[in-house]
This record gives sequence, C-alpha cells and structure tokens, in this order.
Amino acid sequence: MGEAGHIDPWSSEQSTDYDRISTKFGLDSIELSKIPNPNILHRRGIIFGHRDLDVILNSIYRNEKFGVLTGLMPSGNMHLGHSMVIDQVKWFQEQGGDVTVAVADLEALATRSTSLKKGREVALEEYIINYAAMGLDPKSTSVYFQSKRPDVQRLAFTLGRKTNISEFEAIYGFGGDTNLAHVQAPLVQAGDIVHPQMEEFGGLRPIVVPVGIDQDPHLRLTRGLVSKTNWFNVKTRQNGGLTVALSIQDDNSEIFGISKDGKVNREVRNNIFNRIKSSISSIGYADIISNPKHGTLDIPGASNIDISQLKLNLLRLERKMGGMGFMPPCSTYHRFAVGMTGDKMSSSKPETTIFMNDSITQMEKKVKKAFSGGQSTVEEHRRLGGDCSKDVSFQYLQFFFEKDDNVLNEIKRDYESGKILAGEMKNICIENATIWLNDLSEKRDEWADRVNEFLAPDAF
Ligand code: TRP
Repeated sequence: MGEAGHIDPWSSEQSTDYDRISTKFGLDSIELSKIPNPNILHRRGIIFGHRDLDVILNSIYRNEKFGVLTGLMPSGNMHLGHSMVIDQVKWFQEQGGDVTVAVADLEALATRSTSLKKGREVALEEYIINYAAMGLDPKSTSVYFQSKRPDVQRLAFTLGRKTNISEFEAIYGFGGDTNLAHVQAPLVQAGDIVHPQMEEFGGLRPIVVPVGIDQDPHLRLTRGLVSKTNWFNVKTRQNGGLTVALSIQDDNSEIFGISKDGKVNREVRNNIFNRIKSSISSIGYADIISNPKHGTLDIPGASNIDISQLKLNLLRLERKMGGMGFMPPCSTYHRFAVGMTGDKMSSSKPETTIFMNDSITQMEKKVKKAFSGGQSTVEEHRRLGGDCSKDVSFQYLQFFFEKDDNVLNEIKRDYESGKILAGEMKNICIENATIWLNDLSEKRDEWADRVNEFLAPDAF
C-alpha cells in the first residue's frame, strides 16, 4: 500500500498485511465449510477474502448460470504467481461457470508501452497456451482482446460518466501528471468485468472475478460504478422488510415520469409502480406499500434472504425499460506466494519466481538458492527444527506442487521436528516441481496448434 493508503495495481510492491487490508476495504472472510469441492487454495487458507461470493455459491448450489471473468496483462512471462488465479478460474469452471478471459492489451499499451501486436503474441504464446496446459476447458472458455471488443470500450466510456477525477485520485492516487491512457485503463477493466452480463455475452448472471489483492481497487471502482447505474435500489427498511427506491438519473428521468419542469407525472409514475409490482409478484409478497410520489415501495414482509431474487427481478425490469441492468461483480482474493529470494515475486526479477517454461535446470538453481527456514547448523536443526513459515521450498509445495494434504502435513511435521533438513526440503520441492513443470510442458505441446479453440470469434 502506498503512503496515502492506496493499493497501486501497477506496482510490484504489494502489502501482505491481509488482515489490515480486509478490514480497511471491507472484504469478507472465506468460510471453508460453504465451499463445495474445495481446492488446495481454499483448503490451505490461501484464498482469504471475498466480496459477495455467496451469490456465486448460491448459483453453484442451485445449478444456476454464473460466469467467471479474468484478465491478463500481456507483458512479461507467465510465472507461478499468475497460475494461482488460473487455478481458481479452473475451479469455478468445474463448478459450472462459463469463463471469459480479457487480454488487457490496451492496458499493457497504456501502462507498459507494449504494442498491440506484441501484446497479442505474448498473450497467446505465453499465457493462453499455459491456461490450456493447466486444464481450462475450451468449450466454456472465451478469450478476447480489449482492443478488439467495441462493447467493452463503449461500456468503459458509458461507465466513465459515473465517476470523476477525484474518485480516481482517492482510489488510485492519480494526480495531475497521470497519463490519460493510464486513466482510461481502469474504466476499460470495469468494462471487462461487467460486459459478460450483456445479452450478447451470456446475459444477466452473477460474475466472479478471482484476483490478488492488487486488483481490488478495480473491483471497488466497478462495484461503485455499477451501483450508480442501477435504476432501482433495494435497501433494508427501518421498520422491517425491504424498500425499493427509484434511482433517478439523466437516462431514466423521463421514463420515471419526471417532466421537463421537474414535476412528477402521476400517470407515468403509477404505471412504473405497476410494472415494479408485477415484476416482483412472482416472489409472492402479501403486502406491498407503494409510494409513487416519493419513488419508493415498501415490502414489510420481505427478508434479507429475498434480496437477491428481488434485485434480479428489478434488474430484468430495468433492462426491459432500457437500462443496463448490471449486478455488481463478485470477487475472491488470494495471498501472494513469497518470492524465492524471500522478497516479492516479480517477473522483472527472474530469480524471485519460477516461470511456466523454466527448464528443470533453471528451476533447480532457483530452488537451491531459495530462502530457507532451516537452522544454521545440522545439530541445531535437529534440535530446533525448521520454520515452515519462512521456508520457500515448503511454501511452494503448499501453494503449488504438493496436492495431497496428508503428504504436505507430514512434510511439515517432519521439518518442524528436525527430521527433514533444509537441503532435503529443497530436494522434495525440486522433485515435485520437476513433475509439475514436465507435465505442463507436455500439455503445452499437446495444445500448441489448438490455442485458437479458446478464442472468441472477435479475437481473430
Ligand atoms: N489489470 C490486470 C492485470 O494487471 C489485467 C486485467 C484486465 C484484469 N482486465 C481484467 C484482471 C479484468 C481481472 C479482471 O493483470
């Protein structure tokens, strides 16, 4: 976090004080017992926070449609740090989600001076091929380029009407000297995040965006923008139940019965309220108190459990009336794995991480040099044991290479008791990483000529 408390999504320096970040930005914590078929990132507490994940979990439980959206910056090589998001995307896909992948070629141009042509190459040859190798299913994966999807750009522009420079200062710490392409990048990302809900891209359904904490500013921005576009707000009512309130905006004031002179046209307004009532009648509320003049409708008998159904019906109505009808995106957050040197992982410092196409020799060298949690002498190590919380090799087994919890726990126990030495821990890591890298490289070969299967029609 920067001095002023911003998270800078474009910096490789990220705070790892996850408790503080969660409190400060209002993330909810993950309840493992609610996650069906948890993967290792869930089971090992690596995914630590979320916004509105319950909405997605409900879709999973009820077998209803939901989408997963992720994006990649096509600059630099794909490394283990990037693979964590894909592990999650894959998990959501296995639970029934359809997957959209944004190639952030406009963002890479704006913030890294990567040409669109270069961005395309990097995206396909470095990232998408590895996503394929990691097991994403092309049947429900659709990769597109920001520069080639006008709907996303149009949304960026449209959503931009709901924010201003001050908000960008507050969220990102932008100032007067910030390049304007850089200012546009978060708006395009907001477009990325919400556009799968458009009719053309799958229609109204919850979308989840699994990210590292560095991307949370974009999610906060997008959630705020979406809520400002909504035509109907649902709030808890003071005397119990829920209240639906019209949100009058430039785009809808006429539809909502505001005349040129600012007065409310009763007939139009009553008509709107009848439409609201009929749109929520299927939920079956016994008592609805309309107040068309004030633009509110009280449902004393509604409980918080009904909120999502109610909101969904209102978004459908909004769409029928000409609004965009977007739900706020849901998100999950994972901890970062430590860099191999004990510092942060960064693609600009190759010694800090393992790249997806590192050779076994390169990987071995890095692991051998990696920061260890062992004691300085063998005697001491046998007596005091190693420290897994500091040992990079152990952590890489935990985050990436050892999928079996029992085996991992055994390794941990034996390291902490001093039975396993630091060098032996490194060998275990190398052994597992070798299997992992070889498997990935084999799968990459299998996909080499078929990456196109992942591309959306507008990506060619
Ligand atoms: N900003 C992301 C990055 O730096 C890339 C990205 C673009 C993205 N659009 C997205 C990530 C939408 C998640 C969702 O890596």
